Amino acid sequence: MGAMMPALNTNILIFNPHIVTRQLMLGEEPVIFRLLHSGDGELLGRYFESLSDETRRRYGPHPLTAEEAQNLCDNLNYHDTLRFVAFKPGTAPEIIAYFILQLGITEHEMARYASYGIELDTSLDCTFAPSVSDAYQDRGLGSLLMRPMIDSARRLGKRAIVLMGGTQATNERAIHFYEKFDFRRVGGFRTDVDNYDMILYLT
Ligand SMILES: CC(C)(COP(=O)(O)OP(=O)(O)OC[C@H]1O[C@@H](n2cnc3c(N)ncnc32)[C@H](O)[C@@H]1OP(=O)(O)O)[C@@H](O)C(=O)NCCC(=O)NCCS
Repeated sequence: MGAMMPALNTNILIFNPHIVTRQLMLGEEPVIFRLLHSGDGELLGRYFESLSDETRRRYGPHPLTAEEAQNLCDNLNYHDTLRFVAFKPGTAPEIIAYFILQLGITEHEMARYASYGIELDTSLDCTFAPSVSDAYQDRGLGSLLMRPMIDSARRLGKRAIVLMGGTQATNERAIHFYEKFDFRRVGGFRTDVDNYDMILYLT
């Protein structure tokens, strides 16, 4: 465990989003991890449109289109959802990962967790959906970004993080990835495929 970081609230983030920006190294490569800004629409659109069919089968929090990217950037609301992006800096910056941290719990998650005997609280718990670009998957980037993402949730006083829509039972890499960061499987449900629900307790 590192030193305790000062507490945060979403008003602080609105006036100073860079407070959670991190300059990281993926091996020899610098990576900037920061909140999505209103000016990121084009780069986020490029990221969404670059995602392979395989990644889209695993990751569908919202339409993965240029139009949706612009819409998200035009309607940022840090009280509701923190959208983090990882950038490869330089003259041609590129987004290489997009992590959604929704500060609350949807009815779907609330109901599924209740069926496992877990009472989620939308003011204390949050919902998470990560993605890494195809070219960077399985190279440690997701793991590099998890710690600062979890730190932000903790500094915001959050109690637990659950997966948005669970994770597909066949998504072995994602399951390993979540378990590595102490998410625990608490139940399963079926859509057109089998899915697991996983939760990380922060306190
Ligand atoms: C899931 C995802 C976010 C993880 O990020 P990442 O950068 O690829 O992850 P990392 O490289 O940091 O870590 C992957 C881990 O899984 C392991 N792994 C890879 N393939 C695996 C497999 N088939 N079975 C089990 N573990 C596997 C790697 O060895 C690594 O573990 P380690 O750090 O203990 O060695 C990313 O792969 C992704 O975006 N996938 C597509 C979209 C998706 O599935 N999103 C999640 C939806 S629930």
